[in-house]
Amino acid sequence: METAEIQRRFLKFFESNGHTVVPSAPLPAIEDPNLLFINAGMVQFVPYFLGQATPPWNRATSIQKCLRTPDIDEVGKTSRHGTFFQMNGNFSFGDYFKEQAIRFAWDLSTGSVESGGLGLDGDRIWATVYLDDDESIDIWHKQIGLPLDRIVRRGQVDNMWSMGIPGPCGPCSELYYDRGPDYGPEGGPEVDEDRYLEFWNLVFMQQERGEGPAKENYEILGDLPKKNIDTGMGMERLAALLQGVDNMYEIDQVRPLIDKTSELTGRRYGVSTSHTASESHPDDVRFRIIADHVRSSLMLIGDGIVPSNEGRGYVLRRIMRRAIRAVRLLGYDKPAMPELLPVARDCMAPAYPELAEDFERISSYAYGEEEAFLSTLKHGTTILDTAVTETKREGGRTLSGAKAFELHDTYGFPIDLTLEMASEQGLQVDEDGFRQLMAEQRRRAKADAAARKTSHADLTAYWDLLSEHGPSDWRAYETLDTESRVVGLLSEGRPVPVAGAGQIVEVVLDRTPFYAESGGQHADAGVLTGSNVRAEVLDVQRPVKKLVVHQVRVLEGELVLDDQVEARVDPEWRLGARQAHSGTHVVHAALREVLGPSALQSGSFNRPGYLRLDFSWRSKLSETAKSEIEDVSNRAVREDLPVAVKYMTLPEAKEFGALALFGETYDETVRVVEIGGPWSRELCGGTHVSHASQIGPLVITGESSVGSGQRRVEAATGIEAYRYLARERDLVSQIAEELGAQRGDVIERVRALLQRSKDAERELANLQAKMTSGRAAEYAGAARQLGPVKFAGVKAPDGTKGGDVRQLATQIRSHLPDGEPGVAAVVAAAGGKASLVVAVNAAAKARHVSAAELVKAALSGRGGGNEDIAQGGGVPADQADGLLDEIARAITE
Ligand code: ALA
Repeated sequence: METAEIQRRFLKFFESNGHTVVPSAPLPAIEDPNLLFINAGMVQFVPYFLGQATPPWNRATSIQKCLRTPDIDEVGKTSRHGTFFQMNGNFSFGDYFKEQAIRFAWDLSTGSVESGGLGLDGDRIWATVYLDDDESIDIWHKQIGLPLDRIVRRGQVDNMWSMGIPGPCGPCSELYYDRGPDYGPEGGPEVDEDRYLEFWNLVFMQQERGEGPAKENYEILGDLPKKNIDTGMGMERLAALLQGVDNMYEIDQVRPLIDKTSELTGRRYGVSTSHTASESHPDDVRFRIIADHVRSSLMLIGDGIVPSNEGRGYVLRRIMRRAIRAVRLLGYDKPAMPELLPVARDCMAPAYPELAEDFERISSYAYGEEEAFLSTLKHGTTILDTAVTETKREGGRTLSGAKAFELHDTYGFPIDLTLEMASEQGLQVDEDGFRQLMAEQRRRAKADAAARKTSHADLTAYWDLLSEHGPSDWRAYETLDTESRVVGLLSEGRPVPVAGAGQIVEVVLDRTPFYAESGGQHADAGVLTGSNVRAEVLDVQRPVKKLVVHQVRVLEGELVLDDQVEARVDPEWRLGARQAHSGTHVVHAALREVLGPSALQSGSFNRPGYLRLDFSWRSKLSETAKSEIEDVSNRAVREDLPVAVKYMTLPEAKEFGALALFGETYDETVRVVEIGGPWSRELCGGTHVSHASQIGPLVITGESSVGSGQRRVEAATGIEAYRYLARERDLVSQIAEELGAQRGDVIERVRALLQRSKDAERELANLQAKMTSGRAAEYAGAARQLGPVKFAGVKAPDGTKGGDVRQLATQIRSHLPDGEPGVAAVVAAAGGKASLVVAVNAAAKARHVSAAELVKAALSGRGGGNEDIAQGGGVPADQADGLLDEIARAITE
């Protein structure tokens, strides 16, 4: 049974039993600061269990996306651990309890497939209960009829469930399925959890836990206001059981990734023959790591996580790098993500269509991360190779701990990669030495962090400058040009007296006209010039409040402390910056006018000629909405709305209707920028035009998704808007020229061309069909006589697709003489596999020759169809010819 079908049956079963279907929450657990990712189906319902909010329904059901990484090192080694998985759950908020929950789980699990159930064999199900939970034992035994020897009592670690952190908890009862002696010794879940696979956990949620260890000996704070039910059925585990495969990596949503990896690397999956993954060959483990991690990466980026060095982004980075490294260890050294990620998308999109829509964004992050990591690997590999050669030359057999540490620290080489690569070259690694250096580094980092907390080690130089010279006299709102004195000069964070040509240094001036990056507006560009120096301003920041720091490159001469310089903002740049920032406010107001006030900005960035704005919105903007937003924006420009700046207190600004952005902190006196009076009022420290017409044309150039519920619009402003449109115009001209058409006729011409190409394809298909039919007659003519039966056994040209194989078989059959018993069999090879179709005519059928039986005979029982026509396949391509012989033998018999 396909995973999608399990999902459908699960939801349908609980929906028809009075549950409301609730969509999965996104993977990042934003509501809960203690949790990085949702790790169970119940997480989104925690406030209902705790009685902090009233649930809109008494019963709910969901398929929740989950991510667990504490066991990441086990992935691939056992059959049970995956990072991403889906948890099917049913929930009762103070409604039904133990009896009904057990009954539901049993009925759905053992209900026959025909009646909508999952068809598990009840005689193979075991149940566990919490130590003293006699009530559940009674229900399992007396009401369900489970024999007592398949009901097991277990302790707190196994059968008292919580999220591992403070929150709701309760005793649970788990369902296990006996997979048979191939998987391990008998004796129930206490003896072997590979053979007895847990597939459903029923939690009787009735208490609240406090701080303490994750699984045992934590404090119980008291009873919840109501008795609730929280269940979790592992979708992947169930799919493995129902698809007859050994583990979650081999189910329909994951296995294609293993196959693709095998195709890329030329290695075979399934080297070990044991059913238990714990005895696996290292290659098999790598295949599973790749399959699991690529899928998890897809799901994480899909839910708005991007690779980074901390928090959720780091989890993603680690997962991706483990996958990429595993691919390399299987011997493939080209970028693998562009090959694998689309396969993961195709596996998951049936259940999560948004992944396909958003794939361009998702894949750009994944491919970028892989490129970066591969270049890390490349540099590190050179260092490693040199070290290996040197060690060998000196007659050594062990790579030093210091080298391994350098590889790790400077090149981001994980130690196990160093181990693996060194051993490939016949060397060991001084692991102890390495670990010692790591421990020292951790100690240093800790001490450093502690020092930072108390004395702001890295900001000291700025604080010193601020206390010595006071706040920068900041003139960005009034002028583009000031006479200034160099009061601070820093090179790599330390004060220096002078900087020479070519050097990049940080400069603090007593007075400056430069806008420091903030509120989404990029820093100003410009120059500092003195009697003996010219320096280009690269960036401007305010690392501590009220201190403006310019990063500059000295172009000519020397920049000396105490020098008098002219600080000059590039006027063209500033004009562009003002246009882009005012443009951002205009687009924001236009968005809200067209989509409504809930389209609130969540982030923005602008620099001359370009702006982008992120906002909360659920769905892709339609073409109409986009052009309306563009229209409204340009209307504001045309109407030349006045731009005004006002200062007031924060409460006054709120009263005034100014939009403050979530997550920003504001001073007591705030600056409000309005465009067209109340049409656009925002708290903003940026530089703006004084009339909307100065923005120039505004063109929306892009609209995309940036995580769930977040969209991004991008626009060109001023001269860049004009250039954008000019490029589009040139494009149309070129297309028109290629087509030899007038510009106005381009669409018509393209349509006509497409139509012609479609007609041609159809004609080609007809011709091919005629050829096949012609060939079918030839094949039928060459049929062999096997006793009374005419048998036409044919090997179709390589690459013939399934539907065509079937068509050829029926066509040959129709060319066999009518009154005589006849059988047509066609085999074809595609993608390394052979397929087979057998068609039997009426006269043969009358003599009890059955197509389905013949296919089964050739394929040892596999295949499907009826007496007239049947098909099968899946065996290696080189067995194709043998299949025809088998059919012939079966007919003769
Ligand atoms: N919340 C329970 C679990 O995750 C059902 O196992």
